[in-house]
Amino acid sequence: MQFELTEEHLMIQKAARDFAQNELKPGVIERDEHQKFPAEQVKKLGELGFLGMMVDPKYGGSGLDAMSYVLVMEELSKVDASASVVVSVNNSLVCYGLEQYGSEEQKQKYLVPLAKGEVIGAFCLSEPEAGSDATSQRTTAIDMGDHYLLNGTKNWITNGNSASIYLVIAQTDIAKGHKGINAFIIEKGMPGFTVGPKENKLGIRGSDTHSLMFTDVKVPKANRIGEDGFGFKFAMKTLEGGRIGIASQALGIASGAYELALQYAKDRKAFGKPIADHQAIQFKLADMATQIEAARLLCLKAAWLKDQHLPYAQASSMAKLFASEVAMKTTVEAVQVHGGYGYVKEYHVERLMRDAKITQIYEGTSEIQRIVIAREVLK
Ligand code: CAA
Ligand code: FAD
Repeated sequence: MQFELTEEHLMIQKAARDFAQNELKPGVIERDEHQKFPAEQVKKLGELGFLGMMVDPKYGGSGLDAMSYVLVMEELSKVDASASVVVSVNNSLVCYGLEQYGSEEQKQKYLVPLAKGEVIGAFCLSEPEAGSDATSQRTTAIDMGDHYLLNGTKNWITNGNSASIYLVIAQTDIAKGHKGINAFIIEKGMPGFTVGPKENKLGIRGSDTHSLMFTDVKVPKANRIGEDGFGFKFAMKTLEGGRIGIASQALGIASGAYELALQYAKDRKAFGKPIADHQAIQFKLADMATQIEAARLLCLKAAWLKDQHLPYAQASSMAKLFASEVAMKTTVEAVQVHGGYGYVKEYHVERLMRDAKITQIYEGTSEIQRIVIAREVLK
């Protein structure tokens, strides 16, 4: 068993750490406060190749492995989870879905600009009545012979307004249940496609989350991904990798909060000594460090399995379940270590605590991860 990172891993990790400190940290509090999408920062992430990290260079990507992706997601999420979720969705849901299952024509037309970071994408599965219960799709895509006619509403879509390319899951044949579901590529500006207002959220406030409305949108046949009826499997397979991204985001939120708490515990004095000299604080730091290390190993294990082309659905769900719970526990404790200072915005930990919560909800709630894991272990 090999626990050492390669030179290339260390380099990419450092590049992401530097980017987070130099480009994301300035303004992160204001962006959170005003719900401002990190547009300039996302543009730079694209120029540096962080938006198509695992895509083959022949399609404009950086050709890196999933382990590198975990390292990058951790570093970016330590500082700004609103920016890192853009990286996660674009890489592991949109680019991966297109590279793995798209036609050559779809890859040339859509994957290349997405991988180069010239545009960003969105992944649209959830609906007002279909979140965890994802097979209950109400959005319909009726086969009209030479095109599909798309009608319905998608909810909670990350990059909802900033994206140019949307992967939309819809029901084509209700009688066939999940086998009648398809995935389509929708472009912003297609007649009948409108974006709802931005959601006002607890955390990841810089991320733009919107509902999307489709009214008689004509979708070319060439924009269906894969064979007829492949859409639900497409969503599930794509989410297997997406969950590694969100697990790593949770890991980064936790380790960002831990690093701040560790430093603060050394600096802050109470009862004549640094609070780090009080055993109650030491035990909190010890628990945080241990849980974060375990979460990191689960994330890297899932990524390693993916890189080896071995099954990784169970590993990615375990990583997401565990890392998101560690993110919640760690951020709550990091606020506690900061005392009253932790409760105000300047010290960053209250934001990390608010950001942590979403990692237990999106890309499958913790309860859904347990369902996926239980089905795997009971097989
Ligand atoms: N790979 C391939 N096929 C899969 C699969 C996988 N990982 N998981 C399920 N399937 C297949 C099943 O084999 C089955 O097909 P067959 O009938 O041909 O065997 C079909 O899909 C239906 O599967 P289930 O019977 O297991 O379906 P279910 O109704 O019990 O639901 C579920 C399964 C795991 C709960 C699924 O609905 C699910 O993952 N729900 C959560 C949805 C989710 O994660 N949404 C995230 C939205 S994106 C997002 O959130 C992005 C973001 O925030 C940034
Ligand atoms: P529900 O499914 O209604 O669940 C409510 C509660 O019931 C949860 O605790 C859940 O775990 C529990 N529950 C449901 N079913 C079961 C069961 N069988 N057993 C036990 N417990 C169960 N979706 C996208 O498609 N694309 C995106 O880009 C995207 N981005 C998002 C960004 C944000 C900020 C948010 C908040 C959500 C986003 N989502 C996105 C949607 C997200 O994936 C869903 O919110 C999530 O899957 C849960 O669905 P729901 O909200 O409908 O909750």
